[in-house]
Amino acid sequence: MAHPENTNPIARLAEMRETYRRGGFDEAEVHPDPLVQFEKWFADAVAAGLKEPNAMTLATVTAEGRPAARIVLLKEVQEGGFVFYTNYRSRKGRELQRAPFAALVFYWSELERQVRVEGEVQRVSRSQSEAYFHSRPKGSQLGAWASEQSRVVASRAEIERRMAEMEARYQGGAEIPLPEEWGGYRVTPTLIEFWQGRPDRLHDRIEYLRENGEWARRRLAP
Ligand SMILES: Cc1cc2nc3c(=O)[nH]c(=O)nc-3n(C[C@H](O)[C@H](O)[C@H](O)COP(=O)(O)O)c2cc1C
Repeated sequence: MAHPENTNPIARLAEMRETYRRGGFDEAEVHPDPLVQFEKWFADAVAAGLKEPNAMTLATVTAEGRPAARIVLLKEVQEGGFVFYTNYRSRKGRELQRAPFAALVFYWSELERQVRVEGEVQRVSRSQSEAYFHSRPKGSQLGAWASEQSRVVASRAEIERRMAEMEARYQGGAEIPLPEEWGGYRVTPTLIEFWQGRPDRLHDRIEYLRENGEWARRRLAP
């Protein structure tokens, strides 16, 4: 659709800016354990009523070092790591197989906060994936069977046909098994940064780095 020039938001990108004044974040209030600090900020995001506060950007790299990013949902914070679920043969799964490192980014716009995480990635146990898989709505469980994530498909009809086959197969209420190629990954952080927007672009940034099993903390320039 054509936009008259003065109403096309793309033409006004350079003027789009916010002043962040909700609050600060300083050394005195940060928890020494960044996972505990994350739980606090996550609770704030939930309390603020944000939609999908557990949505996070997940960046992986190809064997050639080329990054790729997409959104996934955080489903557990456990054993000091961030857990999400996916198809192990998806593009991200294949990239993590070759290079088991990832970066995560949470952005809670209404709170003017960002959290960045970097770390090593491991699959969670099969029993943990099973427990989560069976907690999902039946439609999502069947969807995992119907879709070979990231594979090229001829049409939407192909996927719907496959879904109908799965619905027919499990119609009697039998337990839907966990697909072999489906499960969780845990990102165990080596770095976590908490970012709070402030006026004049003088934002607060507190970065935690794990060194010899201990978390060190420092302030970064915005
Ligand atoms: C809000 C939101 C939540 C999503 N959550 C997940 C998720 O938890 N797991 C997943 O595999 N894909 C999720 N997706 C889809 C991914 O962004 C992506 O399309 C898919 O995983 C395929 O990525 P890949 O081809 O790079 O592997 C989500 C997308 C959005 C927009």
